[in-house]
Amino acid sequence: MSARLAVYPGSFDPVTNGHLDIIARALHSFDHVVVAVADNVRKTPLFSVEERKAHLREAVADPRLEIDSFSGLLIEYVQRRGATVVIRGLRALADFEYEFQLAHMNRRLAPEVETLFMMTGERDFFVSSSLVKEVNHFGGDVSAFVPPVVNRALQARQRT
Ligand code: COA
Repeated sequence: MSARLAVYPGSFDPVTNGHLDIIARALHSFDHVVVAVADNVRKTPLFSVEERKAHLREAVADPRLEIDSFSGLLIEYVQRRGATVVIRGLRALADFEYEFQLAHMNRRLAPEVETLFMMTGERDFFVSSSLVKEVNHFGGDVSAFVPPVVNRALQARQRT
């Protein structure tokens, strides 16, 4: 399998413009990018994995991008896909320690897989999925931070 395949994993609950910026830039550097939506055991999601995948599909249409999901160990998924690069977005210093741990643990589990960090765009460095959900929950406008499909889905949840 080509070394130009990268996996960009995350919870994407929901996908934000910050994630979309990373995806667009990853597509500049790799021939094929797989966005892998995690069934993350650490988090209680607002949207199901299928909903999150549908949001991503509508937000980015590129023939070189695949939207998939996985459960279990990320590194096993990456190996199954024959990829050697995992992409992660770094926003602020606060992300560093957690990402440092993940990257090192993943490297111990699979030394052939490299984690590549991309700096989140300066427009979105303060945005997180939780913050978007919280602002939306209390009636705030999050349309500047998420793609239209997610904004609609969040508004629908607001009304329920
Ligand atoms: N723009 C905006 N927000 C961003 C961002 C960007 N570029 N990059 C990250 N974020 C935010 C996300 O919105 C998310 O916010 P939230 O915590 O409020 O939901 C947060 O940063 C981190 O999210 P994400 O990048 O989706 O990662 P995650 O921590 O939710 O998931 C996994 C990380 C899925 C990769 C990791 O848990 C994993 O590998 N799980 C599988 C099990 C496994 O292998 N465990 C062992 C790991 S060593």
